[in-house]
Amino acid sequence: MSLQSIVFDGTKLEIIDQLQLPNTTKYIDIKDTKDGHRAIKTMQIRGAPAIAVLGSLSLHVEMLRCEFASATDVKIFVEEKMTYLVSARPTAVNISEAKDRLVKLASESVSNSKSASEAKALILEATKNMLKEDVDTNKAVATHGAMHLLNTVGGEKVSVLTHCNTGSLATAGYGTALGVIRKLGEEGRLEHCYCTETRPYNQGARLTAYELTCENLPSSLICDDMVAYLMKEKKISAVFVGADRVVANGDTANKIGTYQIAICAKYHNIPFYVVTPRTTIDLSKKSGKEIIIEERPHSEMTKIGDCQIAPQGMNCWNPAFDVTPAELITGGIVTEIGVFHPNKLEQELRKS
Ligand code: MRU
Repeated sequence: MSLQSIVFDGTKLEIIDQLQLPNTTKYIDIKDTKDGHRAIKTMQIRGAPAIAVLGSLSLHVEMLRCEFASATDVKIFVEEKMTYLVSARPTAVNISEAKDRLVKLASESVSNSKSASEAKALILEATKNMLKEDVDTNKAVATHGAMHLLNTVGGEKVSVLTHCNTGSLATAGYGTALGVIRKLGEEGRLEHCYCTETRPYNQGARLTAYELTCENLPSSLICDDMVAYLMKEKKISAVFVGADRVVANGDTANKIGTYQIAICAKYHNIPFYVVTPRTTIDLSKKSGKEIIIEERPHSEMTKIGDCQIAPQGMNCWNPAFDVTPAELITGGIVTEIGVFHPNKLEQELRKS
């Protein structure tokens, strides 16, 4: 059975505490948006889609216990709580997209003169469905990505590289870039998957390696500084990574280190794919220069768990993400409605 990072039975909401993986698989309760905000900020849950789904469901469970006097009160509540959740981490756009959608829904209740209970029910319905919708989207994204690569390589098996964690733990289930790799495995076409350690938070070593092991997919872990040599020494058919925000010109913010992998892939003539649901695409921003990059605490670099690995007091620079320019995304941007050249992305999405 595949891992479920978020478990929701209609009233009770739990997540796997990813800070404890891979050694301990422990579920923790999320009772309200305060718990949701803390879990996102401390990275007990992370990954752009998972942050949005958990944030929205934390609103759902808090709302179940609230009484409202009017649809306007519902709208004020949704706007205030979602703004608070969005503030937990700035780079991934999915939770802002969820906020905009829910606030729009609540505003429509006001303009259509709905009662407080009708307005509340509409928000509960929209948030309840997000888990399943995300899994369905991921499966569609993964199929497009896997088929696009397989159509270009003929009958042979493929070896791929991925970065960070984009699997069941980063989404409601199945995953995006790791979903493609899962799909290649299901099709019997995966020769090997290499995953990077992904310093400093080690999402690759702790989480992706854990998912690959659980699923028995043929795989090896590499350190982040082995990417160029891997591409020189092994036959790598493609790189698949996720995204935290893709903007109108195709520039893509993703986990720190993605940019240097894309440069290495271009040099070695290896197709580089960004795999992402449409909720990660932000057409309101024109280029990557407009993306806010989160900087995280120095302690993430100077310590691993309780172990100090750099001198106490050492200054660090710890950007959590970088921006890969569109021109390096040579394989394409894979979405649930197809694979697009970065230059065509905006035009195709506005059409659909
Ligand atoms: O800091 P994180 O672990 O939240 O960063 C995660 C990533 O960069 C992922 O690649 C991205 O969110 C896509 S997850 C499907």
